[in-house]
Amino acid sequence: MGYHDLTETAKLSPPVDTSQPYDITRVAGKTILITGGAVGLGAALARHWAAHGAHLIIGDINDTAGEQLVADLRTQHRQGSHHYFHCDVTDWDAQVALFKAAARASPHGGIDVVVANAGINLPTANHRFENPLADPSDPDAPPRPDTRIIDINVTAAMHTAHLALFWLPRNGPGKMSPGPRGSSPPSSPRDRCLLLVGSVAGVLPFVGQVQYTASKHAITGLFRALRGSAWTHGVRTTLLCPYFVSGSNMLPTAVEAAFLAGGAGGASIKDVVDAATRLVADDSIVGRALLVGPRVADAEEGQSGGEGRHSNKDGDPGQETKVTASIWDCYAEDYKDSETFIWRWVSMLNAVEKAKGVVGLVTDLVAILFRRN
Ligand SMILES: NC(=O)c1ccc[n+]([C@@H]2O[C@H](COP(=O)([O-])OP(=O)(O)OC[C@H]3O[C@@H](n4cnc5c(N)ncnc54)[C@H](O)[C@@H]3O)[C@@H](O)[C@H]2O)c1
Repeated sequence: MGYHDLTETAKLSPPVDTSQPYDITRVAGKTILITGGAVGLGAALARHWAAHGAHLIIGDINDTAGEQLVADLRTQHRQGSHHYFHCDVTDWDAQVALFKAAARASPHGGIDVVVANAGINLPTANHRFENPLADPSDPDAPPRPDTRIIDINVTAAMHTAHLALFWLPRNGPGKMSPGPRGSSPPSSPRDRCLLLVGSVAGVLPFVGQVQYTASKHAITGLFRALRGSAWTHGVRTTLLCPYFVSGSNMLPTAVEAAFLAGGAGGASIKDVVDAATRLVADDSIVGRALLVGPRVADAEEGQSGGEGRHSNKDGDPGQETKVTASIWDCYAEDYKDSETFIWRWVSMLNAVEKAKGVVGLVTDLVAILFRRN
């Protein structure tokens, strides 16, 4: 259908080669806001990043766990500034307050990374959605379905992304934004990263989990579209797509055993943390998604990655075909062969960006200098 390669025009970096090392020290000094970070994957990310010098802001409804986590971070990593704020992400005003509080608490007054992590899966709601029963009070209609999965995983995550697009550009001179305007980069530009937490359920259908699958496909759609334009704010959009993570709270142990035993198993928390850390630490990664699956030994390189093309190699260096694949770039080719409408749209953004030129730069500087946190 299309023939326009928009990879460069949309400022996307090349597909991520996860066999290459990345510099974890780059998370130091970044102020990172994580929604739903009191327990689970968000908490694992917070602990890892705080250990490497980042400042963590956690928003969650689990106050006991969130406050305990931040108490631990403050004790173990004194160089950082770590904070917990109660925030129900389904409440827009609460998210607005969370972002304001995060900027106030940040040592440099800005937010550098936003992780839209809060998410749930409700097996009963998934099941009931596909199996509607008559309402006891109305034999001709089912009760309104429970849509909390959509409320949290989609609507609230969209709100988080919207607030990220508002707040990230206020963190100081950006790394990416001066580029398109043709001016020279500021001496100490700050990174601006939105990390969306999707799932393999945003890539493949999870049969029997219709609402969860729909919610994570929505996050994939958010990522695929937003990465084509977020660079205009100097924001690099990234996406994490974990498979079922062994030892996480997503599945009860018995369910995990029933579905995963005898197969390749689940992804590991370690690999999820590694993939997310790469996306956050390496600010040359722009508009890329990493899928995290179980470690698959003896796979031919490229086979297990589908559209993605890179694997973690940590086997015998002498055995080139022995690969342990767990993390790879997905949706890598989206903008390589775009149809005309998308091509025109992204090209138009570039034209507007160029036209803004010096005026845009001055306007941004004034906005930054006189911003109210
Ligand atoms: N664990 C997995 O197997 C897996 C796989 C793929 C994707 N994911 C995604 O990773 C993200 C984190 O999942 P997890 O496994 O850590 O889950 P988890 O249940 O361990 O943690 C979720 C966190 O979100 C918080 N939360 C729930 N509702 C909230 C609300 N309304 N407002 C604020 N916080 C709220 C919870 O209190 C908890 O701290 C989710 O988006 C999930 O869909 C998880």
